Formats: sequence, structure tokens, C-alpha cells
Amino acid sequence: MASPKRPEPARWLRATNDITQQFLAFGGRPDVVSLAGGLPAAELYPVEAIQAAAKRALDRHAPAALEYGAVEGFPPLRRLIAERFSAETGAAFTEANVLLTSGSMQALDLLGKVLIDDGDLIVAQAPTYLGALDAWRPRRPSYLALDWKAPDEAAFARAKFVYAVPNYSNPTGVLVPQDRRTALLKSVLASGTWLVEDDPYLTMQLDGSPGRSILAHAVERGRAYDGPVIYLGTVSKSLVPGLRVGWTIAAPEMIRSLTMAKQATDLSSSMLTQAVAFELMAEGFDREHSAAIVPAYRERRDALCSEAALHLKDWFEWEVPPGGMFVWMRSKGNAIDTDELYRFAVEEKVAFVPSSVFDFTGRDRYGMRVNFTRSSPETIREGVRRLGRAIDTYVSSRPQLKGQR
Ligand SMILES: Cc1ncc(COP(=O)(O)O)c(C=O)c1O
Repeated sequence: MASPKRPEPARWLRATNDITQQFLAFGGRPDVVSLAGGLPAAELYPVEAIQAAAKRALDRHAPAALEYGAVEGFPPLRRLIAERFSAETGAAFTEANVLLTSGSMQALDLLGKVLIDDGDLIVAQAPTYLGALDAWRPRRPSYLALDWKAPDEAAFARAKFVYAVPNYSNPTGVLVPQDRRTALLKSVLASGTWLVEDDPYLTMQLDGSPGRSILAHAVERGRAYDGPVIYLGTVSKSLVPGLRVGWTIAAPEMIRSLTMAKQATDLSSSMLTQAVAFELMAEGFDREHSAAIVPAYRERRDALCSEAALHLKDWFEWEVPPGGMFVWMRSKGNAIDTDELYRFAVEEKVAFVPSSVFDFTGRDRYGMRVNFTRSSPETIREGVRRLGRAIDTYVSSRPQLKGQR
């Protein structure tokens, strides 16, 4: 029987594809070495501490932790975030400056709902976190690349917001120096737009510390916060991604708008996981835990970079990232198309993420994001060797490249 003709999905969904899901699904196969995802090391998850915190959360916060809660989030955690950021920055943040979300991914989605109408301009750090591009796609924005060296105030004035990941960006791992942060803030203030500072990798500090957030530069000591920086934080890297707890710190008017959007999205996030996160963070466990796992990640990054120096350096170049989860590799002279290389990598059973998915124009096909946090150093080395073999086969299939290096 012929299947009935049913209504088509909305236009934005027809205009997109599931390429990201495909990359990630392939990486999940047991015979594949995945250097693709952005996941922490599962064996480093603090299972016992979370077990104990879950018990405390229920002992202390039931039934509130088991109900729908305030749209803005579990009040003790909102207060704790306000207090922490006040202590760190010198500002006087209150609960009115804080919204809790289901990971910072939800905050990105809500920002799209609140700020973007069809065709509106976003000035985004490029290459751009693909989750942000995904979150905003249904709103059909237009994009301009953020130039950190020369912030374009005129473009900012036309934009709904500027989007930046100054700490160990996804996908590049780049740490933006302090003078560029202050220059960006100055232009944002002059232009009158919003600045979204997305900071999931804050605790992934492998070499030294990143210094002050842009939010910290935007506050006035002891004063209530009403500035243009919308700061996004999360427990996904400092604790575990499965709690799905993130926070937005912003001017009260922006928190009110985001709260309206969140109410229409899910009524409230899980009070239970917010209560568990509260129990862990109130003791400072997230900070202790992050500091404890950093050496393992440093070892993995170094394993990746040293093996890559043996097998990939004829065709790719990269900088060793001072933090985060990724090494961003660029094909020398744009000789290798990484969308194409991916097909050879599949044959060798190794996964990475090609640069095209991080480009809002989709045209950059000469880079790849390589993750170093998920697998052991030995597995990472094996993955790099497989990648080396995939490159060899790619090169031999292209007569014009043979003998070039
Ligand atoms: C730049 C960036 N923003 C936001 C997120 C989403 O994080 P969360 O797990 O808090 O939703 C990620 C996740 O990897 C990310 O890399």
C-alpha cells in the first residue's frame, strides 16, 4: 500500500542534514577509534561523589527536588552561582541575574528564540561551535565572522549579538588574550549590542590559567549587574554532561526574556539534577574534581600531538592548545579536503569532525577537529596512526598530490 502523503517538516529542517549525527554515530562503534565527539573521559566521572550527592539532594531537598520547579531554576543553586561569580568578579550579582538551563546548549537555543528573527545578523567567532549553529538554524540568521584583531563596531551595531568562546574554543582550542577581550568588550559597549560569552571549557586548563572572563571585565565593583555580556556556564566539563545543568548570567531584563522562552520550552529543567549539582558545588567538589582530572587530559593531548607529529605533519599543521578538548588541524596549502578524507578515515575505522560543519558558510573543507579527552593515550595514538594511513590512501588516490611532500 502506498504510504499516505503527510505534511512535510518545516522549511528549516528540510534545509539541514544529519551529518553531525552521522559523524558521532560512526564514532560510537566499538571497532572505531573516535577522535570525533566532544565527550569527557567516562572512566574519570566521579560516580561515588555523585551517588552521595544524589542521596543528600533527596534527603535535604525532597519533595522540592522531585517537582516542577521555578522556571528560573532551583533557588539554592541560583543563589550559589550568583555568590560565586560575585566573589570572583567583585560585582553584586543576585538571583535576578541567573537562569539555570538544561546545559548551556539550552541557553543557546533560548537566545535564538529571544533575539533572532528571520535574517537577523549574528557576529560569531569563526569557526563556530556547531551546536550553536544547530540551535540557531531554525531562526534562519545571517552571519559575519568575528575578527578579534579588529572588532567591527559598525557590524556589531547591526547585529543582534556577538557570539564568542574565548576560553579554549570549540573547535579550535584557542585561548583569546586579555587585551583582545577588553577590546571586544569596548566595541560591544560602543555598538549597543549583546555579547554572548560561552564558557564551557573554563575548567579544562591544561597550561596555566585563562585569566578574566569578559563578564568579569564588564562588571562594576559592588554594583548590580546590567551589562551587555550574557555569560554561559555549565557543569558538563567540571562534573559530568549527564546532569544537564548550565547557567546563564545576564542583565535582569535578559534573564526575564529567556525565562519566558524557557517556560514555553519545558516549564522547568530537572530540579533533581540541579539539586545534585548544588550539593556538589556547595562543597566546591566541582573545582577539586576538575583540578584532579586535568593531568590525565594533559597526557592525552600530549599523546595526540606527539603521535600526530610522527604521522600527520607532512599534510597538516596545528598549534598545541593550552586547554579544552580539541586540536584543530589545518591541511597545509589546502591540499586535503577533509570531507573527502573522512570517507578514507571510515575505511580505517577512525573518526574526526571535518571543518565544514563548523563553518556557517559550509565552505571550509580543509581542517579537522580532533578530540583528545575521550580515549586513553594508547587509543589516541592508534587513532592517529589510522588517520595517517587514511591520509596516505587519500593522497595515493589523487595523482596531483603524489610526491608533493
Ligand atoms: C562551545 C560550547 N558551548 C556549549 C556547549 C554545550 O554544553 P552543555 O553540555 O552545557 O549543553 C558545548 C559542548 O560541548 C560547547 O562546546
